[in-house]
Amino acid sequence: MLSRQIAPRLREFETPFYLYDIALLRQTLESVVSESKKYDYKVHYAIKANYDDHLLAVIREYGLGIDCASGNELRKAVEAGFDPRGIVYAGVGKRDKELRYAIEQGIMAINCESIEELELVDLLAAEAGRVTDVALRINPDIDPKTNHCIDTGQADSKFGISYEEVLAHAEWIKSLSHISIVGIHLHIGSQIRELHVFENMCHKVNAIVANLEAQGFSFRFVDVGGGLGINYDVPENEPIPNFASLFSIVHTHLQVGGREVHFEFGRSIVGECGELITSVLFNKTTATGRKLVIVDASMTELIRPALYGSYHNIENVTSEAETREKYTVVGTACESTDVFDENVTLRTTRRGDLLSIKSAGAYGMSMASRYNLHDLPGAVYSDEL
Ligand code: LLP
Repeated sequence: MLSRQIAPRLREFETPFYLYDIALLRQTLESVVSESKKYDYKVHYAIKANYDDHLLAVIREYGLGIDCASGNELRKAVEAGFDPRGIVYAGVGKRDKELRYAIEQGIMAINCESIEELELVDLLAAEAGRVTDVALRINPDIDPKTNHCIDTGQADSKFGISYEEVLAHAEWIKSLSHISIVGIHLHIGSQIRELHVFENMCHKVNAIVANLEAQGFSFRFVDVGGGLGINYDVPENEPIPNFASLFSIVHTHLQVGGREVHFEFGRSIVGECGELITSVLFNKTTATGRKLVIVDASMTELIRPALYGSYHNIENVTSEAETREKYTVVGTACESTDVFDENVTLRTTRRGDLLSIKSAGAYGMSMASRYNLHDLPGAVYSDEL
């Protein structure tokens, strides 16, 4: 873990800040690229996980495409130098101006998530005098066995079009003359650690693709989304996620039939390379005897614990104490849920110590807010130290 290796240098920077291990990011990218090449799979980076410019510049070097979820994410990817023809754009609610921009950029595919959206994209493409490539985002109705806050592919979810609805509108969809249906897309959820879930996903995709192609659709690619989980419990045991296992499952179970296979990884690319470094402001004990460590970060820098009850491993990286104690680590925001961990064993912790909140590279900075008028956190990159 980078923070432990460079602990004395961490004091040069104002806390709280994100510390990024760029060597680990590169190793992760090398792994995903070399494993995906074995099957000729195409990998997109889900930019929502972290849109930091420095990280994007590194990711771009490895030839990944981009998966984006808003017009601004699309713009960011284009400005960061990603080829629009390698960008896909999903999202249940796209504004007209966002769709116009996507059409104008000629991206790889707009992943449409409703019948009304298909109609609108057709109309806007006609206005622009273009035929736009579209993928149908299908809701596959799969339980990804993850935190229910971050599952996306169950029948009642807001994401994707139901397969039945596509079938019911098949002739009409094919008749739209300013969109070309080039692919099929699904994403079943995030932080998936039980990889057999992806096996179920493949079987569903096989059936959906076969049935829709029987209706006269023809898909150049199948985009199976992201979702590969990381090891929040003991990140040191698994700094690079197991891309090889996921690809091998997909290779075994997906009937490819000459189509391209695409993935959209967010967390598994950038999750482990980032830590949130925060200073201990105060220690105190509640009337009930609970020992609190109050740090200068809060849910405004990393909202995952407060929002989903997510676990992040925490370590005191500057304490030399031989003794260890149990603490509740809390942030500065005026919210009772602003708790990083209820029951963490740390080296005896004093004011001024630096804590690392690990595995915070994904959905940390990108979900930061300015609640309580907090400043947004800074970033420190290992390759600039
Ligand atoms: N593709 C689509 C269409 C998505 O909606 C997402 C994530 C991804 C790809 C990337 O998924 P990943 O590989 O990162 O699992 N803020 C939550 C996670 C929300 C995920 C949203 N969609 C968290 O902090 O856990």
